[in-house]
Amino acid sequence: MNHRFLISLLLPLALCLPAALSAQSAQMEQGKRLFESQCGSCHGPLGNGGKGANLAQPQLRHATSDQALQSIIRRGIPGTEMPGSFLTPSQVSSIAAYVRTLGRVEPEQIPGDAGRGAQTYASLNCQTCHALGGQGGIIGPVLDDIGARRSAAYLREALVEPEASVPRGFLQLRVVTKDGRAFTGIRVNEDGFSVQFRALTGRLHSFWKDELETLDKEWQRSPMESYEAELTPGQTDDLVSYLVSLKGDT
Ligand code: HEC
Ligand code: HEC
Repeated sequence: MNHRFLISLLLPLALCLPAALSAQSAQMEQGKRLFESQCGSCHGPLGNGGKGANLAQPQLRHATSDQALQSIIRRGIPGTEMPGSFLTPSQVSSIAAYVRTLGRVEPEQIPGDAGRGAQTYASLNCQTCHALGGQGGIIGPVLDDIGARRSAAYLREALVEPEASVPRGFLQLRVVTKDGRAFTGIRVNEDGFSVQFRALTGRLHSFWKDELETLDKEWQRSPMESYEAELTPGQTDDLVSYLVSLKGDT
């Protein structure tokens, strides 16, 4: 094989390579921009979580393959707060490519001891309102996979300032009946004529609206109190570390 032949073979390749690389980095740039505008509000601008799951980890629970990831970006995850989108296929693949790069980071170090956190959880009676492994109350969300759904920072905030971010589906109602009974509860169902809610005692109530004197919807209010005063910073770390360890696989 003579030199000229080799060059004529390699030259076009060498010319194409930078173009291919810059197309790739343009796609990554687009993915990053779209991520920041479409996803960052829930997943954090760096993808390391917020109200949405932490995406900056090597393995994702639902997005187990590139195909699954793209399908999640298009359709969301039904039954969760992860919404679908109206992005074009090329935008979807740009975002997906960008999301994959988020996982190439050192795993987040969470201070605190999950074992001690489990004891704190039990001693503070969190289970009166929350179910874990099928045990506990139903006033608050099930916590089985809370560590996979939310980030550490969000969970910390949930403990010290529960009203900062109230999950979808938890609307606090304050109800006074015409015969003078008053209730606080979480709405279960409502239509034009009736309302059903779970009082803090756990009991389900149902009223016709014309039986009610007032029906107040307290958006962004929560029956969960702040635990800031009750927990030392060390105990908060332990409890957050415990919640982060709940990935729904036990
Ligand atoms: C309104 C808030 C919100 C927005 C906006 C949002 N997400 Fe999510 N996302 C969530 C929540 C909450 C979850 C966790 C769902 C669950 O498992 O309960 C989630 C889960 C995911 C998962 C699955 C993670 C896993 O562990 O497999 C991926 C991937 C994801 N989101 C990507 C995106 C991308 C990309 C965007 C932007 C196009 C986006 N999300 C926009 C809230 C959001
Ligand atoms: C009086 C009932 C009650 C008690 C006790 C309670 N919670 Fe909650 N919790 C709720 C309710 C209702 C919500 C949903 C509204 C909100 O976000 O504040 C919630 C939300 C949460 C969330 C956020 C869930 C999500 O998906 O966003 C976490 C985490 C949590 N609680 C942990 C705890 C821990 C840990 C304890 C014990 C230290 C505790 N809770 C005690 C009622 C309670």
